[in-house]
Amino acid sequence: PQDAAISAELLGWYDRHARALPWRVSPADRAAGVLPDPYRVWLSEIMLQQTTVPHAAPYFLRFTQAWPTVSDLAAAPDAEVMAAWAGLGYYARARNLLRCARAVAQEHDGRFPDREEALLALPGLGPYTAAAVAAIAFDRPAAVMDGNVERVVSRLFAVETPLPASKPELRVLTARLTPQARPGDHAQAMMDLGAMICTPRSPACGICPLREPCAARAAGLAETLPRKAPK
Ligand code: ADE
Repeated sequence: PQDAAISAELLGWYDRHARALPWRVSPADRAAGVLPDPYRVWLSEIMLQQTTVPHAAPYFLRFTQAWPTVSDLAAAPDAEVMAAWAGLGYYARARNLLRCARAVAQEHDGRFPDREEALLALPGLGPYTAAAVAAIAFDRPAAVMDGNVERVVSRLFAVETPLPASKPELRVLTARLTPQARPGDHAQAMMDLGAMICTPRSPACGICPLREPCAARAAGLAETLPRKAPK
């Protein structure tokens, strides 16, 4: 099947099974094309690089209650933000978080830029976060690749080259698969599929919306991919 047919299947599955997470909009809003607030997308993505979805959720709720906008966060005393971050670990990330909030507040009028390249120029935003914010908050067809997406794409296209050597190829395949419409939902659908169905061990291929096009499943390789180069 064509990439467009695969992403259509995946989006249909997402419409039925997306996880309700605090940084996402409601299903009704999503159906109406409402995009989530870039500040909330950015904050959640920074937290999720640090920890798991269940661990990040209460932190996300506390942060957004204390500081509902990026300008509120920018104005917060360092010590309060560091205290709220305690338990998420890796304090350099919290310092970068504040530097970024202040850059957005002071240099961008409190509004996150909407292009991947401009996002990349902000403190603490690497290629992953810039792509995720561009896609999820601004509907830009950026290729969003995290560990879950790498696994799903490796299996879908039966990429037998081990990680990390396969990354450039996975990036090309991820970009090709990313639709022009709803790229943010597509990215999050890939993440949800990786978390709920296309899991590292014992993937639930029987209920996977992509079981038909999945090349790894056809070859009996789903559980053995992605291969990893010995360290
Ligand atoms: N992991 C990283 N970003 C995520 C998101 N937006 N939704 C679910 N899992 C994620």
